[in-house]
Amino acid sequence: MKIVVIQGPNLNMLGVREQNIYGPMKLEQIHAQMKEVATQNSVEIEFFQSNLEGEIVDKVQECYGEAHGIIINAAAYTHTSIAIRDAIAAVNLPTIEVHISNIHRREEFRKENMIAPVCSSSIVGFGPFGYHLAMMGMMQIINEITAAQEAQKAQVQ
Ligand code: DQA
Repeated sequence: MKIVVIQGPNLNMLGVREQNIYGPMKLEQIHAQMKEVATQNSVEIEFFQSNLEGEIVDKVQECYGEAHGIIINAAAYTHTSIAIRDAIAAVNLPTIEVHISNIHRREEFRKENMIAPVCSSSIVGFGPFGYHLAMMGMMQIINEITAAQEAQKAQVQ
């Protein structure tokens, strides 16, 4: 099982940027915790961060045929990017979006969400722990899909 974690703009500044909203944890620390959970569960995990919309689109596309699921925090592009939304829809992989803050309780413009309608689920407002919840959710979704595929194969035979 392979999961790709895609982090959008300014998330490389976690631990520095607006600590009152995003907390003190650095992106590397979040990724280290996710890696630990992945290793414990024999899951392959890849991390990618970019401040550029096109690079995020490219990464989502690369997941096609390579990954079983995507965990994405598209950060500010969540609210604007039809291109990232279309890429997620195109690859048609289970995708969970994470937001560290509760975007529903913040400025009006953060209520607009281009990404959520093409995702399996959204996890918001749990702080960095949201990434852990996303890992748990993604392993569950992929296991269910695999079990359903195997049951279907067994029926055909
Ligand atoms: C964010 C919320 C976005 O509105 C913001 O632009 C971010 C981070 C979050 O994780 O809470 O950069 O995605």
